[in-house]
Amino acid sequence: MAKGYYISKVVAIVGILFTIAALATIIALSVLYANEKDKNNNVPNLPETTTPTSSENTKGPTSAPSNDPWTKDRLPKTLTPYHYDIRLKPVLKKNDQGLYVFYGKSEAFFTCVAATNLVIIHSKNLNFNTSPKAFLKDSAGNNLAVSKIDEVPQKQYLVVHAANNLEDNKNYSLYTEFVGELADDLAGFYRSEYKEDNETKIIATTQMAAADARKAFPCFDEPAMKATFNITIVHKPDYVVLSNMNPISHNNLTEEDELWIETVFDKTVKMSTYLVAFIVSQFRPIGDPGNSTTIGVQIWGRKKAIEDEQQGAYALSITKPILDFFEEYYQTPYPLPKSDQVAIPDFSAGAMENWGLVTYRETALLYDPAVSSIGNKERVLSVVAHELAHQWFGNLVTIQWWNDLWLNEGFASYVEYLGADKAEPTWNIKDLIVLNDIHRVMAVDALASSHPLTSKEEEVNTLAEINQLFDSITYSKGASVIRMLSTFLSEAVFVEGLASYLKDFQYDNTKYSDLWIHLQAAVDMTVPPVDLPQSVSEIMDTWVLQMGFPVVTINTVTGVVTQKHFLLDPDSVVSRPSQFNYTWIVPISYATRASLGHYWLQTPSATVDAFQTPASDWLLANINVTGYYRVNYDDTNWNKLIAQLESDHSNIPVINRAQIIDDAFNLARAMYIPTTRALDTTRYLSNDTEYMPWQAALDSLTFFTQMFDHSEVYGPMREYMKKQVRPLFHYFRDWTLNFTTIPESLTDQYSEIIAVSTACSYGLPECVTLASELFKEWMDSNINGIHPNLRSTIYCTAVAHGRAMEWDFVWEKFSTSNNAQESDKLRSALSCSREPWVLNRLLEYSLDTNKIRKQDAVSTIGSVSSNVIGHSLAWDFVRAKWKFILEQIGGSSFSFRNLIEQVTRRFSTEFELKELEQFKRDNQEAGFGSSAQSLEQAIEKTKANIRWVNENKDSVLNWFKGEIKAENI
Ligand SMILES: *[C@@H]1O[C@H](CO)[C@@H](O)[C@H](O)[C@H]1NC(C)=O
Ligand SMILES: *[C@@H]1O[C@H](CO)[C@@H](O)[C@H](O)[C@H]1NC(C)=O
Ligand SMILES: *[C@@H]1O[C@H](CO)[C@@H](O)[C@H](O)[C@H]1NC(C)=O
Ligand SMILES: [Zn+2]
Repeated sequence: MAKGYYISKVVAIVGILFTIAALATIIALSVLYANEKDKNNNVPNLPETTTPTSSENTKGPTSAPSNDPWTKDRLPKTLTPYHYDIRLKPVLKKNDQGLYVFYGKSEAFFTCVAATNLVIIHSKNLNFNTSPKAFLKDSAGNNLAVSKIDEVPQKQYLVVHAANNLEDNKNYSLYTEFVGELADDLAGFYRSEYKEDNETKIIATTQMAAADARKAFPCFDEPAMKATFNITIVHKPDYVVLSNMNPISHNNLTEEDELWIETVFDKTVKMSTYLVAFIVSQFRPIGDPGNSTTIGVQIWGRKKAIEDEQQGAYALSITKPILDFFEEYYQTPYPLPKSDQVAIPDFSAGAMENWGLVTYRETALLYDPAVSSIGNKERVLSVVAHELAHQWFGNLVTIQWWNDLWLNEGFASYVEYLGADKAEPTWNIKDLIVLNDIHRVMAVDALASSHPLTSKEEEVNTLAEINQLFDSITYSKGASVIRMLSTFLSEAVFVEGLASYLKDFQYDNTKYSDLWIHLQAAVDMTVPPVDLPQSVSEIMDTWVLQMGFPVVTINTVTGVVTQKHFLLDPDSVVSRPSQFNYTWIVPISYATRASLGHYWLQTPSATVDAFQTPASDWLLANINVTGYYRVNYDDTNWNKLIAQLESDHSNIPVINRAQIIDDAFNLARAMYIPTTRALDTTRYLSNDTEYMPWQAALDSLTFFTQMFDHSEVYGPMREYMKKQVRPLFHYFRDWTLNFTTIPESLTDQYSEIIAVSTACSYGLPECVTLASELFKEWMDSNINGIHPNLRSTIYCTAVAHGRAMEWDFVWEKFSTSNNAQESDKLRSALSCSREPWVLNRLLEYSLDTNKIRKQDAVSTIGSVSSNVIGHSLAWDFVRAKWKFILEQIGGSSFSFRNLIEQVTRRFSTEFELKELEQFKRDNQEAGFGSSAQSLEQAIEKTKANIRWVNENKDSVLNWFKGEIKAENI
């Protein structure tokens, strides 16, 4: 579903200041882990709800597990829905009990496909305000006799026991009236608030995925239970309502002496419940509402953002081109009459691909050239492209069940780059998948605690199990292996198989293997044949059924090539068996100075003549990192590659310069090569001005900083970094006339940002001076002349080197900012202070929703912990408040699962390991919610860090000392 894991550039940059490149690893996506409070108890004015009859609650004579269908996590297959009539009236004012509620009437129509007397339908926190709670009807609309109706809150079911069996092949319906709470919990039908002209504005909006449509109306809430929906929303005249389809009528009503409008929407196409959406707001649109012949494309958001500041203009300019691109790419027309993109002030994920009504965090849709950075712009572009990619892949053709989520998300995370490239053809954005997805997810997938892309349908049942799936393996590894597949098939063959898959399964559901079948058919029809060693599914099975990936080691002297499961910690124990014994079918592309080639490695080892390289040449494998694996070489070849980088790095493609660095550091971590060899790959950087290799190096060196920034290694390391970055800083200073202009290309802009952020964070004096001056000008004049690209760095540097005055100024600007991206930059800068008491105060603020939005709590704590001074403060804070944090944000924040990872990143001592294990024991009872896995990973990482520091500290210290000594001579 939603894309929320993206690490925004802004954040990455601030992180560098204390050299944790990511206060932002919002890798998480999981909300709503099952520990949801039962809100029924909080809705006093409503008729009593009942009495679960779940056998789990019945203290009957037998203790054997019940076989009653309402005790199961999955719906029985006896009923198939085909239509819903839904009428909802959200009241955007508190009622007498101080609650916001919505009133609903709904009729679910279904076909009985196996005789049964049970109608089991999902329903969560809905209070049925009629008696009986539900009316079961036959196809003529006559009420049928019902013996009892139960609610089973544990499984979120409403269970209707019919007096007589429903008959096979006949249609029935279930009518209900209900009241739900319009809570601010970011799930189901929920409430969001924002301030405009001193007035609090309230909107009612939805986030149904993965399983909260049931919180808005009773429904068969599984992705394969597709149906059509007639949606009617009742609202006040000064509000506008949007849904998946266009409205077909507006009727005036008078209810309780007040005027209301009833907006009726056109019947939807056949679709899954998790894609249903409706929004009642005072938002304004820009764009073209469309008509009977043209598709409407509009961007919606707060009036100030959309009308006064035109923050939707960029999104509008790219949406139609991207939709057009995907129509062509999928060879399938866009299935709906319109596509609305809506910026929601409170949103837990990054965005959600609701069909025809895509919802976004403000930072993922709105862009203001005056205050937004190039990273903000790229984020808008890639998130819009991602969500639009789903309008076909995901919405038109949908996974059968959540266990195949990786296909849905991995696919969209790959093709988003293609859509984005179409809208911004000069950006070379497709290259960036290597940094943003491949390198990043390899770090996670190299742990023994990783997991395969696929899971079996029967292994994913509970909401917690579903929500666990929304992780970086699903998104980024999914994207990486699909890109690899598309590359070895060739784009043309891939697209052909894809189009036939979409045509075959439109308005229907699939398993991932269905895509392989269609791709295989495309392969079989291709002339000349595609060079595959085995079938598409046999090749892909090795990548999707087993976790991890191989390190391919090429000996250029003997020509022997081997593959081995790459584990970051060589001592870690892999307990998960693999049917392929951790051997993959690996497409190896390679180059020498003069030639290119390709080889399929299908066994643990092989001898390949072409890999024997003459003494005068080097060999480079995995060209442009289209393969999902790492590469190691014999010493001689490493030396030759490093020598090539130092003599003329332009002979090696820019993506592979980044790869050499990233592979080398990871191979060193895993003890395949010495750490100093990895450091050697960074020496040439003082001559490189390209973004990708620099970013790869900084991502790798972040770990060094985390391990050493509180030790004696840090002094020489800082000197080395200053020496390396100084030429880059001066290069951009000269080019941009002392940072008064901005380079054209995307990657040049990113390079410039890196130059400034790295220079400032390691304390290059000319950078700190620049930052202080620019910031002072802003404080003095109250006119912010700092270019948006450089704001994160300048703010952070000014706060770090400043005093209370600077912090207070940033806080004041943050509290009054009307722009979400600017707020994020300011909020990050607040964590750059070097005063412990200031940082502690910020931690307290992070849980105070009057000061910092709930959606930003985790990233605020994370950014404090990325500061070397704040790290232990954040850990103490999280430990002390764990139960409260879990309750407050554990259920509603997508990023919650990263919290533990963020506050334990520097852990590298036995003492810290003990603390972490103690933390685990102390909170067994309260639990860890969606961060349980992250806790296990933190323990594993801490152990690995301890060993790494012991083994490497001396050699690393000496290497840095040697480099700065060489400088001085
Ligand atoms: C908002 O409130 C402030 C202080 O109460 C007042 O000075 C200002 O005029 C108000 N603005 C609007 C647009 O009502
Ligand atoms: C609904 O009421 C508004 C304002 O009272 C009026 O302008 C509009 O014509 C009415 N619409 C219908 C369909 O009666
Ligand atoms: C649903 O709405 C369509 C119009 O969009 C209407 O033709 C149809 O009768 C409605 N179906 C039901 C079951 O109410
Ligand atoms: Zn997605």
